[in-house]
Amino acid sequence: MRILMVCLGNICRSPLAEGILKHKARQRGLDWWVDSAGTGGWHVGELPDQRSIDVARRFGIDITDQRARQVRPEDFERFDLIFAMDRQNLQHLQQMTSRPEHLQKIRFLLDVLYPGQEREVPDPYYGGPEGFVQVFRLVEAACERLLEEHRPQ
Ligand code: 4NP
Repeated sequence: MRILMVCLGNICRSPLAEGILKHKARQRGLDWWVDSAGTGGWHVGELPDQRSIDVARRFGIDITDQRARQVRPEDFERFDLIFAMDRQNLQHLQQMTSRPEHLQKIRFLLDVLYPGQEREVPDPYYGGPEGFVQVFRLVEAACERLLEEHRPQ
């Protein structure tokens, strides 16, 4: 599986999603390709937000190898699934392509847990550290379910 996690800045939510899914896939011996990107370009080249680095580290995951990048047109070819954290991310992704085979790759990450409910991973950027713990827990539960669904038979 090749999976792209997408948020707005690629410094808070999607770096956590990338780090968590990579960690869990590796633990299961799965050869998954996982990356993340932002719909916006303000933070390109930056490390993840310190609050994301801290919460990941608390749960034993190092995300300091990541640098922010923006979503690119070729991402729609290179990945099997493209997960948006919130509705704004999802709509931005949908506006980047008109091809049905690309559009069908785009999902809400939390649809893995709550199909059809269009639930969002809340943007923690302007809040306190507890928001990052909430993001971590939501994303971790979704990644766990994703791996269960794709367990080798
Ligand atoms: P992210 O959070 O989309 O989860 O990376 C944000 C990061 C930066 C900004 C907003 C949200 N910003 O406005 O710069």
